[in-house]
Amino acid sequence: MKHSDAVTTHQALEDPRNADIQIYVNGDIVHRDKAVVSVYDSGFMLGDGIWEGLRLYNGKWSFLDEHMDRLFEAALAIDLDIGMDRAGVVAALEATRTANEMHTDVHARLMITRGVKVKPFQHPSLSRSGPTFVIICEHSKPSIPRPIALATVPHLRGLPMTQDPKLNSHSKLNCVLACIAAEKAGADEALMLDINGFVNTTNACNFFIVKKGAVWTSTGDYCMNGITRQKVIDLCRANDIPVFERNYSLVDTYGADEAFLTGTFGAQTPVSTIDGRNIGTGELGPITTRLRALYADLIAKECP
Ligand SMILES: Cc1ncc(COP(=O)(O)O)c(C=O)c1O
Repeated sequence: MKHSDAVTTHQALEDPRNADIQIYVNGDIVHRDKAVVSVYDSGFMLGDGIWEGLRLYNGKWSFLDEHMDRLFEAALAIDLDIGMDRAGVVAALEATRTANEMHTDVHARLMITRGVKVKPFQHPSLSRSGPTFVIICEHSKPSIPRPIALATVPHLRGLPMTQDPKLNSHSKLNCVLACIAAEKAGADEALMLDINGFVNTTNACNFFIVKKGAVWTSTGDYCMNGITRQKVIDLCRANDIPVFERNYSLVDTYGADEAFLTGTFGAQTPVSTIDGRNIGTGELGPITTRLRALYADLIAKECP
């Protein structure tokens, strides 16, 4: 597969309005052509920052509390002072949305780094002028043209004491390398194993399989504590669909009836093949279809 043939789990319809969006940069809201950060920024130099991806439906940010919980927990973990409270962050998000007159089908990437350094070196104390805070809101309707092909890769999900895979850190090099390896193997994105060889997650989404009517996902160790992942688990529980957070291997996975990914952007994205093996029929399956409908109902309730 040539590079250009790959499909990503974050593919959206082209929207010409995105050429002229306004971007939030440290309290200013400016045209995207003027939205810049310093080459001394710790996010640019070191990937030293955190981010959240949120979606707006019908004028409401979905699962905003959960996203704010995760953002502030990450800030605490990396000892980054955001410089404002939750209300301030939400106000910045809302100001960006309003400046763009956005109402629905919007994706926000909210990024906060340790800020501009006085010297081009690693030590966090060199970031002295406060964080850099950027919000990009784009008009965004997912348009993933076919189920996703995955390939397993040598890049593992690490241990919590190296770089905790639960952190939405700016530095995503492990995931980026995993994705490159998967593309080189002819797939769209990477299926990553944990340190014990159990199936864990993909480079950018959480991963589920369906076997004999039951839904399986990893124990939750070594992967992003995805908000969509948790919503799918909760929906299974509320709708009598057996669901297990457990260890399972590639043998279980190749033999699954269905597989799908979860994430704020794509909700539930079906998987066609893994390492060249069709998963079930290789098409969107009945349980994935049901969970997509349940999740759409949940979004409709959350963002009426
Ligand atoms: C590595 C990784 N896995 C999974 C997810 C999905 O998480 P959520 O459902 O909260 O969007 C993300 C998104 O931030 C991610 O970066």
